[in-house]
Amino acid sequence: MDTETLKNLQVAFDVAPSAELAKVITLGLIEQDDEGAIQYLPRLQIQTMSDDEKRKLTHFLAGHDCLEEAINFLENGDHHDRLRTVEIYIDQGDIKQASIVYQELLVKHPELESDKINSQVGVISPPGTDKRPKLRVVEKGNVAEITELGKYREKTTNFNDVVGLKNVKKLIHKKIILPFHKPNLFQRFKKKVGGGVLLYGPPGCGKTLLSRATAGECNASFYNIEISDVLDMYIGESEHKLHAIFEKARNDTPCVLFFDELEALAGKREYNKGNASNIVSQFLTELDGFSQNNEGVLVLASTNVPWSIDNAFLRPGRFDRMFFVPPPDREAREAILTYYLKDKPVEGDIDKAALAAKTSGFSGADLENLIDMATDEAIDETIESGRETNISFTHLRAALNDCSSTTSEWLTTARNYARYANDGGRYNDVLEFLKKHGK
Ligand SMILES: Nc1ncnc2c1ncn2[C@@H]1O[C@H](COP(=O)(O)OP(=O)(O)OP(=O)(O)O)[C@@H](O)[C@H]1O
Ligand SMILES: [Mg+2]
Repeated sequence: MDTETLKNLQVAFDVAPSAELAKVITLGLIEQDDEGAIQYLPRLQIQTMSDDEKRKLTHFLAGHDCLEEAINFLENGDHHDRLRTVEIYIDQGDIKQASIVYQELLVKHPELESDKINSQVGVISPPGTDKRPKLRVVEKGNVAEITELGKYREKTTNFNDVVGLKNVKKLIHKKIILPFHKPNLFQRFKKKVGGGVLLYGPPGCGKTLLSRATAGECNASFYNIEISDVLDMYIGESEHKLHAIFEKARNDTPCVLFFDELEALAGKREYNKGNASNIVSQFLTELDGFSQNNEGVLVLASTNVPWSIDNAFLRPGRFDRMFFVPPPDREAREAILTYYLKDKPVEGDIDKAALAAKTSGFSGADLENLIDMATDEAIDETIESGRETNISFTHLRAALNDCSSTTSEWLTTARNYARYANDGGRYNDVLEFLKKHGK
């Protein structure tokens, strides 16, 4: 197609866009190796394209470093197109994703199985069988994946970044950090270093932040375990991965394993069926360290629904230390406001004490959001007036009208559990907090 015709077609497309026209233009531009073709991708309909056209397009995208666009395009296609995405993932070196898509595909379309891809993604099919296997054996490539589990040491976050929460910080220092810093002292008293600590409290009050800061303060290896490191769609694989994670930790002591949002892996078994319940059992076995030695392995976890955690986890010897991370009190709220305003341009002396008094029940995240909204307001004003405007008390007060506390609902639920299901004084800290703040 000549350039003139192509130009005319593009003008026609701008006036009356259609999938058919988009296809013609795209193929025309590809012929001329013109990157402008990429902008027509969202308008293409893969179903209306022939295999040859699809092949031309993906080849062009791969040649222009647009693998992601190629994958997005092929994902709307049929099973042959999906198989092509597997090849692209392999080319990209993303074997994990290739393996996931490939195996999903084989469940419905076993005829797509190829020895070449099998060997590339590590799927073994039983030798000499013509019949399609019902259960696929996944090569234990996953173990290698776990050994690659990123060691997490955030040097930039430490306790100075966590404002307020003095008591919890003191507790963490005493129970977690000190044992790692002074092992001899603990050895002398024959006290074990390690065990389980569960941080719980309303959302946005700094549990994850505290754990990250603990990683920065600790002199130990710190592994941040994500749900995706454990959960696997194949039966038995998740348990296997969990075991491998603990094994790795045991071989790398002193060490902290951090499980954020613990409820995802340790939910009550009566609500779980099958696989999830097996993960809980495996997790308990690992924590007990009956056949293994968990000395020097500290398991730190956080949740905002401690009442959804299977009770077996909260037994002595497992997560027996539960630390309540409360919403910030007035003093802490003032400090958080100061912390988040410190590097921003502000107008005069903002009365943070007055703001702190008005934000009872706000979490750290709520306060950060409040300042964010006031900042947006100041930016808007700057743009509109053309003059540099700073964040003023008026902006903050206006933002306050649009923000509300997100912790009260949590505290109401927690109060009910603390009053009626306070097994062994598990939620005494919550009760004390509620009493102190007259809630
Ligand atoms: N005490 C605090 N000091 C400084 N910033 C805080 C504090 N508490 C919360 N924040 C801010 O709020 C954000 C959210 O906190 P974080 O993710 O730690 O909450 P969380 O308790 O883990 O909540 P969730 O239960 O929803 O996971 C933090 O990234 C931080 O920016
Ligand atoms: Mg969190």
